[in-house]
Amino acid sequence: MKTIIGLDEFRLARRALHGTVGLVPTMGYLHEGHLSLLRRAKAECQNVILTIFVNPTQFGANEDLSKYPRDLKRDLALVEPLGVDLVWTPTAEEMYPSGYQTWVAVEALTKKLEGAMRPSHFQGVTTVVAKLFNLTQPDKAYFGQKDAQQATVIRQMVRDLNFPLEVAVCPIVREADGLALSSRNKYLEGADRQAALVLFHALNAAQELYAHGERHAEMLRLKMKEIIKAERRAQMQYVSCADMDTLEELDLIKGKALLSLAVFIGQTRLIDNFILG
Ligand code: PAF
Repeated sequence: MKTIIGLDEFRLARRALHGTVGLVPTMGYLHEGHLSLLRRAKAECQNVILTIFVNPTQFGANEDLSKYPRDLKRDLALVEPLGVDLVWTPTAEEMYPSGYQTWVAVEALTKKLEGAMRPSHFQGVTTVVAKLFNLTQPDKAYFGQKDAQQATVIRQMVRDLNFPLEVAVCPIVREADGLALSSRNKYLEGADRQAALVLFHALNAAQELYAHGERHAEMLRLKMKEIIKAERRAQMQYVSCADMDTLEELDLIKGKALLSLAVFIGQTRLIDNFILG
């Protein structure tokens, strides 16, 4: 496994790879969810590139960029046994040099859900992911279903900009009690860790209604709201039952639907989702 920081050195190392390339882009502080992406990339591609870059442009002014968890030594130890070929940890100075002024923006899809709460977030994500695609030239890129809207937005960008690669979206990995793995779970201390289960419980309760035949999306949204309101440490940002592809809120659920929610537990903002149907 080769670890590289500089852009020029990375380009040389990339050129030396022969065969198919799988890319797993991350912001580090890796957990089992990331490792599951790397394992799948390793099973499907001849070479695996992992990028670790806490991308400043996807954080809003009041968000947690400076305190976002970072531990490169720990990350490298976790991925060493997985047979990753290149780990690239670009610097913000090389990704966004002084005078930088080019952005990639996916329009309608990024106005809803996470995009409505975090207005500049997706422009930062799509810009950095487009740059990573250009630089790493992958055949396949791996993302987690945990960031459901991000996966939908990136698929749209890949289609619209004709990136010659396949996007693979891998299932959410959860703790034994149902909490979806996230680098931000590190912030959950004491009673907040238990309270964070409210996201999973709300999704489960809505899914149960669906399993019993409820097809009015509003009933599912109301159920999720009711459960979140009962947890005093939780502050709801949104709950949604939307079309999987357009992310438009549904009235009646006919095909597949995305149940999703964003909730603050204390100062920690968590998201989670289930796919129905
Ligand atoms: O999902 C993430 O960790 C980030 O949004 C990504 C895709 C690595 C872009 O910075």
